Amino acid sequence: MLHRATATNEHPSGWQDYVVPQCWDAFTDDDHAVWDLLFARQTELLGTRVVTPFLDGIDLLRLSHPGVPDLDELNAILEPRTGWRTVAVTGLVPDEIFFAMLSERVFPVGNFIRKREELDYLEEPDCFHDLFGHIPMLAHHDYAEMTRHIGELGSAAIAVGEGDRASRIYWHSVEFGLAKEEAELKILGAGLASSFGEAHFSLESDTVERLPFSVSKAVHTPYRNDVFQPRYLVSQSVERTIRDVLALTPDELLAL
Ligand SMILES: [Fe+2]
Repeated sequence: MLHRATATNEHPSGWQDYVVPQCWDAFTDDDHAVWDLLFARQTELLGTRVVTPFLDGIDLLRLSHPGVPDLDELNAILEPRTGWRTVAVTGLVPDEIFFAMLSERVFPVGNFIRKREELDYLEEPDCFHDLFGHIPMLAHHDYAEMTRHIGELGSAAIAVGEGDRASRIYWHSVEFGLAKEEAELKILGAGLASSFGEAHFSLESDTVERLPFSVSKAVHTPYRNDVFQPRYLVSQSVERTIRDVLALTPDELLAL
């Protein structure tokens, strides 16, 4: 999700000021049990309804290992593969910080997990959304590079007061995008892959719009972050969206 919040020093100047220790040892037995419950429930729910690189990423990064992932152990696999690493944050970070992180191949992960009694209600993304939803795709070289590029586009767009343009590209692909894979409709976005309620809804509801993804369409399509999406953009293929987003320059983004 696009990301608001707390810096660790009073006068933050860069994304590094938002990074905190993950304190993996502070996760309780019940926190780890909640991760295991969410992981088992979501992988069963998704089955093969999610794009193949996502399932490959789950295996490559050993996310099925029991318990909340230790970010150092995860980074030891992820960073040599695509240059990306995760850092812990206390919650949502401002958009300019989020895009600056992406542009340097850094993904912020909440240092908390939802409580057992709130499995399906999230006020802000926790480490299950961030790690299960986002990180598998960052093990895919080209998708990881596309995500870094969105960070650059976002930083450039924010600098001239047009951050929403990049946010909408991010939203309609990385967060809530769908994608065709051999003519079959699949989940692409992390917000869908990590959601118990919206995963099937996005694929099966006959009350929503599903429109072809293009960077121009994404830039001009508003989104909601408080309810299920009223419309989804469908990538013709993951590869096509990667190619189109990577080809977009900051000047072209502002001219769309
Ligand atoms: Fe997200």
